[in-house]
Amino acid sequence: MSLPAHELRRLRAICETDDELDRMVASRLSGEPLQYLEGTAAFGPWDLHVDRRVLIPRPETELLWEVASALVESPKAIVDLCTGSGALAIALAKTFPQAQVFGTDLSGDALEVARRNGALLAPKIEWRSGDLFAALPGRLVGSVDLLVSNPPYVAEHEYGALPEDVRREPKLALVSGPTGLEVYERIAAELERWLAAAGRFALEIGETQANAVMHLFEEFSPKVRQDHAGRDRFVIGAKS
Ligand SMILES: C[S@@+](CC[C@H](N)C(=O)[O-])C[C@H]1O[C@@H](n2cnc3c(N)ncnc32)[C@H](O)[C@@H]1O
Repeated sequence: MSLPAHELRRLRAICETDDELDRMVASRLSGEPLQYLEGTAAFGPWDLHVDRRVLIPRPETELLWEVASALVESPKAIVDLCTGSGALAIALAKTFPQAQVFGTDLSGDALEVARRNGALLAPKIEWRSGDLFAALPGRLVGSVDLLVSNPPYVAEHEYGALPEDVRREPKLALVSGPTGLEVYERIAAELERWLAAAGRFALEIGETQANAVMHLFEEFSPKVRQDHAGRDRFVIGAKS
């Protein structure tokens, strides 16, 4: 097996010796994601540091950023639950420089990566460690103008069938529990309390989860949005 020419070119660009290149090629062929080997992933116009502590941000999550940004005009408080590398929090902080943006994650390792990216790109973001809303300061209750999240949504039984390179990413970033819907259920249970009166939210979902997630958020007049391939990938909604 050999690497595609464009991947080989990218690895050659970051290796100083042939031995190092050989090791990188072997690692890539064994399933290590190219972005972990390079240590960066593009998100919009930015290059984010990534390593095995975080999910590699995906192109469809850039669409979530677009979808979410169109929901609000001048938000004062924005929350990115399950921030990983910090991609969404950073993109939203750049889009709405007047807003206070909070990025949260249960994984201290992931937050270290988010903090590193934020320090370079959006130093005003407040990074908070904890389990979903428990990470947020109490003063935000009833005042979140925009909440976004790309949470873990793979069901436990689906994990083994994921491609090898995806399984190199943190399991905590992928698997939510037996059904895949557990984190949405928990967000739905608390969202009303945290959103401002006209607060909005936008969530990334797995392409077969639209009906189930819409049902969970039915009190928020939810709508589904598609990715460029026409797949149901986002659910948006509003408090009123
Ligand atoms: C699918 S990744 C998304 C990362 C990033 N938002 C992105 O789109 O690239 C999900 C993230 O949720 C975090 N996570 C998992 N369970 C969580 C929980 N209960 N509370 C907060 N974060 C959680 C994981 O550590 C991981 O960083």
